Amino acid sequence: MGNAKQSAYYYQSAWGYDLIAYAGPETGVRDRASYVLQQGKIRLVLTTAMSPDSEISKHVLQHGDGVKVLALWVDDARASFEATTKRGAKAVMEPTVLKDAFGEVVVSAIQTYGETIHKFVERRNYTGSFLPGYVPKKSLFTVKGVGLKHVDHCVGNVELGRMNEWVKFYEEVMGFKLLLTFDDKDISTEYSALMSKVVSNGNGYIKFPINEPAEGKKKSQIEEYIEFYKGAGCQHIAVATDDIIATVTELRNRGVEFLYVPDNYYDEVWDRVGKINEDVNAIRRLNILVDRDDEGYLLQLFTKPVQDRPTVFYEIIQRCGAKSFGKGNFKALFESIEREQDLRGNL
Ligand code: FE2
Repeated sequence: MGNAKQSAYYYQSAWGYDLIAYAGPETGVRDRASYVLQQGKIRLVLTTAMSPDSEISKHVLQHGDGVKVLALWVDDARASFEATTKRGAKAVMEPTVLKDAFGEVVVSAIQTYGETIHKFVERRNYTGSFLPGYVPKKSLFTVKGVGLKHVDHCVGNVELGRMNEWVKFYEEVMGFKLLLTFDDKDISTEYSALMSKVVSNGNGYIKFPINEPAEGKKKSQIEEYIEFYKGAGCQHIAVATDDIIATVTELRNRGVEFLYVPDNYYDEVWDRVGKINEDVNAIRRLNILVDRDDEGYLLQLFTKPVQDRPTVFYEIIQRCGAKSFGKGNFKALFESIEREQDLRGNL
């Protein structure tokens, strides 16, 4: 990102992430500064380069602030690298052993959509704060968490016609399974059509929906993303909470901007989803979306993009049995996104 130091402050003050570790010039890393933020099991690493000829600076110039690395915790980073590259993955980093006084971590990496990469991180022999090379660093003020627990899913936007190719990559190279398919009949509004398939690993902990634009009357929200991100990339990260009312109340109080859902959404939503064990007035007041599937219900809400380019955003999600992705909300959600796209002059 352009300014990791200031972004780290935003994630601490607005989102309630604790600063836990740092690497940079003061710790002997000459070319960059990285801030590690943690809330629950979620870890974000924000990095800015020190010079314009760095790969990181080139990435920021091209894509703006964005998600470069989706790191995956593995038992054996060498085996993950060998298996995936043998099955066709493009190698980005050969297995590398990082060591310090707290033990060792093995890291390797492969390419996924756009310039995004997956890092495989094997940390069973490590007890330090984050990774070798990082020093523990604490927030300079009292950070109040907002109840975020873990990453629920990470969504990728890919170019027109390339969704199936990336689904095949996750199936054949990564050994994931296709979980769900949404076609343009499920998720087209008057303008903003898209198609989506969700792939998941064996235990279901990792879920990667992959979107591609579909033909619509005007520009798809996925096309807008790709135009401004300058290619395929991570569209949103969904973070889970056990109490979305408390989480969203705090985030709104701290100035985090969410998509607007019109009041008439709530005129029919309770007929659609039935009874839920939540304060329905608070849900309406906070503009939270509700959906139900065969296994239960879910509550969700989407932020506006968290940088000036209309690219990466976050989803807050509370699952009460439901394992799906809020299909019943797609129409209301996409109409809301289109209102924003229209305001930006990109519809
Ligand atoms: Fe999502």
